[in-house]
Amino acid sequence: MGKDVIVACDFNSKEEVFSFLDKFTEEKPFVKIGMELFYAEGPEIVREIKRRGHKIFLDLKLHDIPNTVMKAMKVLSKLDVDMTNLHAAGTAAMMEAAIKGLTREDGTRPILIAVTQLTSTSEERMRDELLIERPIDSVVLHYAMNAQKAGLDGVVCSPLEAKKVHDICGNSFVTVTPGVRFADGELGDQVRVMTPAQAKEIGSDYIVVGRPITQADDPVAAYRRCVSEFVG
Ligand code: C5P
Repeated sequence: MGKDVIVACDFNSKEEVFSFLDKFTEEKPFVKIGMELFYAEGPEIVREIKRRGHKIFLDLKLHDIPNTVMKAMKVLSKLDVDMTNLHAAGTAAMMEAAIKGLTREDGTRPILIAVTQLTSTSEERMRDELLIERPIDSVVLHYAMNAQKAGLDGVVCSPLEAKKVHDICGNSFVTVTPGVRFADGELGDQVRVMTPAQAKEIGSDYIVVGRPITQADDPVAAYRRCVSEFVG
């Protein structure tokens, strides 16, 4: 699996996202489109960014009954994205249905990864509100194994979990890690962070980087710095 930097385009209009992407005259970064932009602009934004030559991670985190997820994934498969995701909490039946829906007639499909536990969910909340009593690390790894058994390609996880996921699920199981910051950069609301170089060291396959690039004075230079630290 090719290592790459995915730029989280957390904008809420196509004008903003295009004025950002227009700055890139030489590279075509791998772009993450999340709920904010997708719900604001609809599927056409995916087609337009794709037409500009970018790879796309469509981060919609599906979680519903298997039949609904299968049908939704079938629609997404026609958008020709390169990567998309769902919540592993939807169970193996939902994940298997998702793969079925996502697989195109020619047998190809986007990379499908699972969210295990959101990094915004603390161990305490998981125990008190979700009634999951195990330590969060073992829950994350167990969900990763479930995703692998269901045939998914990998998980979204913190860079701190990527090594453990690879140890248990193997190095070809993809780890996509947000929470990346430059050593001299601002943390924003991220708490457990790593630099691109550390994420490389620990074996992340893809890093998802938003504000350190999108809010930089020179986003292209920040992107290049990220690529050179992470991909080398
Ligand atoms: O701006 P920043 O680099 O913090 O953006 C990180 C991106 O990764 C955002 O789009 C955020 O929603 C996403 N993400 C995250 N933590 C997770 C899952 C996704 O920060 N556990």
